[in-house]
Amino acid sequence: MVLTTSLRCCILIVLLVLTSNSAHVSAIRKILYTNESLHVGDRLRNDDYTLKMQENCNLVLRDHSRVIWSTGTAGRGSSCFAKMRDDGNLVVYNYNGQVALWATNTVRGKDQYQLKLKRNRNLVILKGAAREVIWSANTYVTEDMHN
Ligand SMILES: *[C@@H]1O[C@H](CO)[C@@H](O)[C@H](O)[C@H]1NC(C)=O
Repeated sequence: MVLTTSLRCCILIVLLVLTSNSAHVSAIRKILYTNESLHVGDRLRNDDYTLKMQENCNLVLRDHSRVIWSTGTAGRGSSCFAKMRDDGNLVVYNYNGQVALWATNTVRGKDQYQLKLKRNRNLVILKGAAREVIWSANTYVTEDMHN
């Protein structure tokens, strides 16, 4: 079957729309990769646990609706975002990205890093292919407590 140019164009547009939709879905995931940011409203999720960049600038970990941990940066700026930097530091910036409001202070050199919301509720930063834990929010629950 020969497709006309305009039909190919339409198919391409449909594929792009589908791709962008799945990219939106992937905003709900467990891992923030190197150089990625959580902007206002963005979240990581693992079952009943969510890490959300709130409009008030606070980065908050919740177990259902209960607040478990936060960066304590509420009211410190607007359009804030949390960035997993390629040097290993997780930083909450105000809107222009020039003022760091909070950081894990885990600069470990250029590498691949992951901010991961784990199944046990812990929030960790993993370094490199070996996924060495370089930071933890210590918010984990044991399996027993989870039940
Ligand atoms: C992260 O961003 C910096 C600056 O743009 C770039 O040099 C680096 O290659 C990026 N790292 C990854 C893993 O994407």
